[in-house]
Amino acid sequence: KTSIILDTDPGIDDAVAIAAAIFSPQLDLKLLTTVAGNVSVEKTTRNALQLMHFWQKNIPVAQGAATPLVRKLRDAANVHGESGMEGYAFVEHQRKALDKPAFQAIFECLCASAEPVTLVAIGPLTNIALLLTQYPECKPKIKRLVIMGGSAGRGNFTPNAEFNMAIDPEAGARVFESGLEIVMCGLDVTNQAMLSPEYLATLPELNQTGKMLHALFSHYRSGSMSTGLRMHDLCAIAWLVKPELFRVESCFVAVETHGEFTAGTTVVDLEGRLKRQSNALVAMDLDVAGFQAWVAEALALAP
Ligand code: BDR
Ligand code: CA
Repeated sequence: KTSIILDTDPGIDDAVAIAAAIFSPQLDLKLLTTVAGNVSVEKTTRNALQLMHFWQKNIPVAQGAATPLVRKLRDAANVHGESGMEGYAFVEHQRKALDKPAFQAIFECLCASAEPVTLVAIGPLTNIALLLTQYPECKPKIKRLVIMGGSAGRGNFTPNAEFNMAIDPEAGARVFESGLEIVMCGLDVTNQAMLSPEYLATLPELNQTGKMLHALFSHYRSGSMSTGLRMHDLCAIAWLVKPELFRVESCFVAVETHGEFTAGTTVVDLEGRLKRQSNALVAMDLDVAGFQAWVAEALALAP
């Protein structure tokens, strides 16, 4: 099994990725950490704990950064609803996050593991940047970092920047400069990662998880229920379980932090024009039918 730590800002597509991370037999989810992004960190933490309660899982949750490293938070409540996971009435519970910040919980989890652990980040990269700054000695304990973020082409938040990178460009830059082995699942593949209206319609009959996700999906604005929904964050989990579904390019990636109109843009040097050493594997193409089949398989394993 691959041991993973998942850093997330649930988030409706985050919720699906969390489900796949928990119920894929190939993965062992050690820790869930939350970050401000789609909504405030108080809300993303609340959502993460609600999901743990829904599935009756005791995976620890640690709350992370409330704001990007230097910028103000701009959220995506227009995509995920005011709560960040609008549409389903989760029951009340007494669960609490750990009594330490996310970057510290990640560090301790890395230290406690005999084997290097894979980090998966599907929100702004603030917590990962803080981890690398506070505990630079942790790098050898990280097997690799798989992210949903960035784009080799156009953006989805500003003309050129993808949401997670646009929210915290300074964190993104620090992470890409870190020397960690990085797999970038950006919009190039995640825009292709659509679930069809026909499949979505079967979810309420599948299981309780399917019912819950279907209710969330009716409030999710990355695509539409009638034309198909984009599962951005799920791509990072898919890469871990089924890397053969992706065509990747090894190249140099920088995150723009200075541009007035381009901050958060991932500059993906596919042609090697900058003559820099490669620092990432960038996913460029997805086997869509294979992805959809895997999603159906993974969600069928949930309760
Ligand atoms: C990313 O932005 C968020 O709204 C999604 O959860 C995903 O992580 C897609 O650009
Ligand atoms: Ca996300």
